[in-house]
Amino acid sequence: MDGAAEDRQITIHTKADFAPMREAGALAAEVLDMIGPHVRPGITTGELDTICHEYILAHNAIPAPLNYRGFPKSTCISINHVVCHGIPGDRALMDGDVLNIDITVILNGWHGDSSRMYVAGTASTKAKRLIDVTYESLLRGIAAAKPGNRFGDIGHAIQTYVESQRFTVVRDFCGHGIGQRFHAAPNVLHFGRKGDGPLLRPGMFFTIEPMVNAGRPEVKILDDGWTAVTRDRSLSAQFEHMIGITETGCEVFTLAAGERIPTT
Ligand code: MF3
Ligand code: CO
Ligand code: CO
Repeated sequence: MDGAAEDRQITIHTKADFAPMREAGALAAEVLDMIGPHVRPGITTGELDTICHEYILAHNAIPAPLNYRGFPKSTCISINHVVCHGIPGDRALMDGDVLNIDITVILNGWHGDSSRMYVAGTASTKAKRLIDVTYESLLRGIAAAKPGNRFGDIGHAIQTYVESQRFTVVRDFCGHGIGQRFHAAPNVLHFGRKGDGPLLRPGMFFTIEPMVNAGRPEVKILDDGWTAVTRDRSLSAQFEHMIGITETGCEVFTLAAGERIPTT
């Protein structure tokens, strides 16, 4: 999300709140697992959106993006140089396209928000490296998500790794607090300085969702009011997990089938 949130309180959730968050996160991850085999050259982003929409409803949940601030679809699908908030439509996937699918469900009043990269057919070596670096940057952010650290430590871990790989971090969008609200305090920046920002405390729920560009970091919004693209039309990638801070580290609520992330 975007917008200033520094003036808002960060909710400290109870231990009991972890249970419904775990369920919402698991459903978002399940949607992302489910849609993987459908991502092939020829299918349109609108068709992928419909499949996700039906699946979410069939699991007693609501797709949070639909009608959110006027967003017209149930998922965000962002291809190649689209950074985020791509609107599904009649664009058919072509061999070599790389795309982010971002799912947010509302299950029993709690939000589950996660996104991953997919490839239609065979991606270029450069695109594959961008995807791998973006995922690794998310892991490094998650590794910094523990009590005693600050939000700036998360951003710093992501930024230093991405820039060491000669890619750039998008500044115009960030992660966010989440729970019974979709976008809550704080803004979770994917860049920053060690020791900056609010202290991480057990019971904080938020997303980490770095957007990484192969070229320059600047973005612009298309005339539809949503689609964010790289200004230089370079490729962009993103992964998003939703986590809860625990006494010792964090819990990742949105793990994929078979995904293991060390959280101390
Ligand atoms: N899921 C996105 C996020 O990670 C937000 C999408 S808002 C929408 O915060 F309106 F574009 F769907
Ligand atoms: Co999010
Ligand atoms: Co999301």
